[in-house]
Amino acid sequence: MSSSITIIDNRTGDRVDVPIVDGTVDAREWSRLLPDVWFHDPSFGSTSGAESAVCELDGAAGYLRYRGHPIEQLAEQASFLEVAHLLLFGELPTRAQLDGFADEIAEASTIHENFHKRIFEGFRDDAHAMGVLVSSVAALSTFYPDSKDVEDATVRRSHIIRLLAKMPTLAASAYRRSVGNPYVQPDPDLDYTSNFLAMMFRPAEGGFEVDPILAQALDLLFVLHADHGQNCSTTTARTVGSSHADPYVSLSAACGALYGPRHGGANEAVLRMLEEIGSYDQVDDFVAAVKRGERRLMGFGHRVYKNYDPRAKILKETAHRVFEITGKNPLLDMALKLEEVALADNYFVSRKLYPNVDFYSGLIYQSMGFPVEMFTVLFAIGRTAGWLAHWDEMLAQGSRIARPRQLYIGEATRDVVPIDQR
Ligand code: CMC
Repeated sequence: MSSSITIIDNRTGDRVDVPIVDGTVDAREWSRLLPDVWFHDPSFGSTSGAESAVCELDGAAGYLRYRGHPIEQLAEQASFLEVAHLLLFGELPTRAQLDGFADEIAEASTIHENFHKRIFEGFRDDAHAMGVLVSSVAALSTFYPDSKDVEDATVRRSHIIRLLAKMPTLAASAYRRSVGNPYVQPDPDLDYTSNFLAMMFRPAEGGFEVDPILAQALDLLFVLHADHGQNCSTTTARTVGSSHADPYVSLSAACGALYGPRHGGANEAVLRMLEEIGSYDQVDDFVAAVKRGERRLMGFGHRVYKNYDPRAKILKETAHRVFEITGKNPLLDMALKLEEVALADNYFVSRKLYPNVDFYSGLIYQSMGFPVEMFTVLFAIGRTAGWLAHWDEMLAQGSRIARPRQLYIGEATRDVVPIDQR
């Protein structure tokens, strides 16, 4: 359906019709009609920056779909690699396609010995795993100079496979470096997520068996984190990629955006918040501090969701399944009370603040044995599929370089005063 908005420019009395297509006003059309009037939208809250077929989320209705498939169905019926295939290539794979895809990933998952020695060993012992990940993903760029040929779809595909394959290896190496354990090479006989768990936790002397239920739960967490439209980190990957920088530095930049506590770093911040609250009895006081504006309830709120985040719903159920194996996380009761108090309080209700994906994920990761510094790294492993799907889609569309306008608020023209007269 085509419709339009009519605007009267009161400066001149001119009348312009701005077409509305698919619920959006094309800003280029607007500029043609009103060439000297720009949109001012610093956080892009009212601006669409992409045409994308990868993921759809409706914040009011509270749904999330990857290429049309509801997240609830994917969570139940598809593995992370199937979902990555769906996001990257448009369809869920057949069994044969999945086997071929898994083989390609397994083959590309190793990291050169020199990389471990020269890159990882260069960090301080207490370096945060996300800082190590940001740097090591960027460092891969120096190993693959051919990845700069981003306009070639075949080249893009080969580096998509490499990045998807190496992200768990980098993540596990970042962890093992931090605890001073020798690196473990990938095991091609294990599936994607079991292999990651083995690289994380296998002792040097061997003998580590991956618990299939925990591997399945972590795989589900990767599925839930795999994509989320034009979020801060995906927009960062697109922005850097729009200059035709290579995929490694584009994804390193996305990891950097994810690291912040308002975005993927929130899972770590939730755990630290729960530990700081300390006990069930302190929840009411903490909520009161949030309402006074002194604190922020981490793991709550979302720019798009104004309803319960569908991923948080699935995670809450998953948490119970995981705790049956690992034992209940002692912080769970506090988290449940925090949620109950917040959902009944007008401060949160009126602002439509609900638990998001980060509220329960940290409790699960912690119970599985991951240290807090690894939580956002785990988010990054899942989101790599989405980052790459959007990066590839943007380049296939032949998009222009990202270059927003600004509203200049500084001084008018003024003369430079020589230094000894200032
Ligand atoms: N605790 C307390 N108040 C909040 C919170 C919160 N977590 N989130 C938003 N508000 C309040 C905010 O103070 C504002 O109140 P007022 O209208 O009185 O000024 C109102 O709600 C609207 O908030 P906003 O800051 O305009 O919302 P935003 O869309 O700019 O920010 C957000 C979204 C996710 C950054 C924010 O909700 C937040 O900081 N949440 C905590 C961090 C978090 O859990 N982040 C993970 C997001 S989900 C995973 C991902 O995709 O990264």
